[in-house]
Amino acid sequence: MSETSEANVRVVSTGLFTPPHSISNEELVTAFNAYVDLFNTKNAAYIEAGLREPLQKSSAEFIEKASGIKSRYVMDKAGILDVHRMAPRFEPRPDEKLSLLAEMAVHAARDAMRAADLKADDIDGVICAASNMQRGYPAMAVEIQDALGVKGYGFDMNVACASAAFGIETGLGLIRTGARRILMVNPEICTAHLNFRNRDCHFIFGDVATAVILENGSEPARNDSWDILGTRLETRFSNNIRNNFGFMNHCERETEAPADPQTDPFTDKLFVQEGRKVFKEVVPMVSELIASHLVDLIIPPEDVKRFWLHQANLAMNEFIVRKVLGRDATREEAPVILDEYANTSSAGSIIAFHKHSNDFEPGDIGVICGFGAGYSAGSVVVRKAG
Ligand code: COA
Repeated sequence: MSETSEANVRVVSTGLFTPPHSISNEELVTAFNAYVDLFNTKNAAYIEAGLREPLQKSSAEFIEKASGIKSRYVMDKAGILDVHRMAPRFEPRPDEKLSLLAEMAVHAARDAMRAADLKADDIDGVICAASNMQRGYPAMAVEIQDALGVKGYGFDMNVACASAAFGIETGLGLIRTGARRILMVNPEICTAHLNFRNRDCHFIFGDVATAVILENGSEPARNDSWDILGTRLETRFSNNIRNNFGFMNHCERETEAPADPQTDPFTDKLFVQEGRKVFKEVVPMVSELIASHLVDLIIPPEDVKRFWLHQANLAMNEFIVRKVLGRDATREEAPVILDEYANTSSAGSIIAFHKHSNDFEPGDIGVICGFGAGYSAGSVVVRKAG
């Protein structure tokens, strides 16, 4: 566990890049169910002989009821809804061209820089904190740094859905050791690691990019900024959310991957989870993390105006805040962006903060909290300055 508690680093702005296409549950389910029909027809003889289980259809009602998700933004819609493909299609880009993940991060970064009236020269370093990097190396952050014209340094870090909270803590440390400002970006192309042929999870993720600019408190004061009162991080190993994709995968490949989800050796190279176990184990971990963090900062939970939580499952968020507050939270206290964006991994809590913080008055307190695979969880307590 790691902890900080001095109010000498501030959040000065956030930025958001929302992809151009949206897919509703109904559109997603129509494509999935067409795929099920195709699969079951093609495998009718095996199914009849009891050699293969028929695939079950998905339902938009189930998705909304079980998760709270109504739609998701995606970088490519056609490839995901193409029954013969069911994966986003991305044109390969030559190395000389800005990569897609970096491009999304640059859009979000520019949004945050505009909001704080900052130029590239005002920033000393870039952290790219996300669940999936587009490549092994060079670091995405260095490419993003170059595209923005930022001097100094950049590096990547991955703590899955908790990456933004860990990125804020890391940026805070860099500022305490001398940086003026750190840009922390969270580009997420979650649809590229999602198995759209798996009924249990085909609806979970969307794409997006967010950015946060952190500033040394010794810089001239600003009206529209947030003092960081404290951060707290925690990790506990679990296999219940896992993705085995990695640089050693090509050594495992012996045959061409069949397009059958039940025998496809590539399946575990995509997102897999035990959703029920995640729910049961992560809710207490996160609620205890937030509650103990507030106790140590001597902030009564009822003094927190808003909880900007990671957006994975609506019921999960309701449980977490209920445990912290001892009562149900209103949507104003725990805003939801999951309905429109789905789970966007590290970016979820930052989207919620970005979209639902304009009404804060000086002195108002809020908690940004990310959590997910690892397990990992991070709480960042902020107070509106002024
Ligand atoms: N459409 C229709 N029915 C479906 C379905 C779908 N797409 N997916 C599953 N079902 C069925 C199941 O087959 C099961 O049927 P059964 O009761 O006859 O066996 C039933 O619905 C319940 O399935 P289950 O997987 O137990 O659903 P759930 O209520 O746990 O909800 C999640 C699934 C994934 C939404 C939920 O577990 C969750 O969000 N967990 C937290 C996940 C999380 O935060 N992960 C972090 C990712 S970073």
